[in-house]
Amino acid sequence: MKILLLLLLISQHATAVEVYEGAESVLLPCQLLAAPSEFTAAVWDRSHLNIPTVHVRVKSGDDLDDQNQRYTNRTSMSTDALQTGNLSLTLRNPTVSDSGTYTCILRITGRDVSWTYLQLKVTEPPPPPPPVWPKVLSAVLVPVVVLAICCGIGMFCGYKRLKNKEVQEVEVDTGVTSAKLPCKATVQLSQINKVVWKNRNNRNVHVCENGSDHPDKQDRHYRHRTEMNKELLKTGDLSLTLKYPTHTARDTYTCTVYSSEGEVLMEKKVELKVKECKLEVVEGAESVCLPFQTTENLPGDTEVLWKRHEPEYMKVHMYENGSDQPDKQDKHYKDRTKMNDDPLTSGDLSLTLKDPKVGDSGKYGCQVNNKEAWRYKRLWLTVTENNQAKKHTEDIRISSTDHLV
Ligand SMILES: *[C@@H]1O[C@H](CO)[C@@H](O)[C@H](O)[C@H]1NC(C)=O
Ligand SMILES: *[C@@H]1O[C@H](CO)[C@@H](O)[C@H](O)[C@H]1NC(C)=O
Repeated sequence: MKILLLLLLISQHATAVEVYEGAESVLLPCQLLAAPSEFTAAVWDRSHLNIPTVHVRVKSGDDLDDQNQRYTNRTSMSTDALQTGNLSLTLRNPTVSDSGTYTCILRITGRDVSWTYLQLKVTEPPPPPPPVWPKVLSAVLVPVVVLAICCGIGMFCGYKRLKNKEVQEVEVDTGVTSAKLPCKATVQLSQINKVVWKNRNNRNVHVCENGSDHPDKQDRHYRHRTEMNKELLKTGDLSLTLKYPTHTARDTYTCTVYSSEGEVLMEKKVELKVKECKLEVVEGAESVCLPFQTTENLPGDTEVLWKRHEPEYMKVHMYENGSDQPDKQDKHYKDRTKMNDDPLTSGDLSLTLKDPKVGDSGKYGCQVNNKEAWRYKRLWLTVTENNQAKKHTEDIRISSTDHLV
């Protein structure tokens, strides 16, 4: 109650910001008068975008896994934002397409508790005043017409290029066993020598050269998780099947096709979005299962660490050298966690958490590590007190937004 009332103190001076395209940066203000330590994250969102996240700050720093690509390297918040309550966002190189409604959201353990709306308008710089007398006009007119034609052609070509660069989007549910990233060859199949799929960090996801796969050239994240059509040089189907897409909520994958001279013949981008895994359970339940299925037959040296990232970092469960390691877990979870027998063989690394409490709510991650592979899954767990208490919180939330807007 106390925390939520403090939200009413958010100052609401600026609700619209205007800037010319070409400016070095623009500041989107969001200022709290107080910064209670209960806040676990501040999020800047543009909700009408397919990938709405503009910037996320958690206590340990920026968390840009889910950031919309159009904001890559363009956003920053002051380093002590959550401590001081100055959640203002600096957006560099604003363009007309950045115009729209931005929301500054505060989170407490995965729950949005306050929203501040802000309108950003980025406009074209004003044109220079037109020349007045006719002589100049005619002298100017000819080049202008020529220029307009050139621009027209340029724009047409630009548009065509843009069309080719269009990013296809694929969305899958959390927990699916595989996702298909479609790609069809648009070049002569006989010219194709090598096909490389990469992720947005330029890591090799899959490499196929002279018709055979090269797992040795593949990043650890993707080992044993990818498959391409065996007959791709006959069918032209360059699609990639990605098994157990759990380690990021979204990523952009690029399929690049090379000739034997190393020339790029074509490129196709596919954006994969995996729905967030959100669990909700009422306190008093016997247990809750945090699900995680990945590839089977993980090697014996595999380490599995379930951890909580928010609100406070804790080791939840550790499995190492073929057995659970209760001495390496935080005492908060002592005697309350259990994994399946023989999890490495089945690849079912789900964790059963007994007697879930409200204080267990937060962002969890499970990291799997061995010499040749790396896996990750994250999820949000919310443990609610009971229906009565939940309704009470909703009521306060609604009244706090009433005051904010
Ligand atoms: C972002 O910055 C990093 C490091 O400065 C750079 O390597 C990367 O290419 C940049 N990404 C984009 C999309 O500009
Ligand atoms: C808030 O932080 C921004 C930088 O992110 C800074 O430019 C601005 O002056 C700060 N505002 C206040 C009131 O300190």
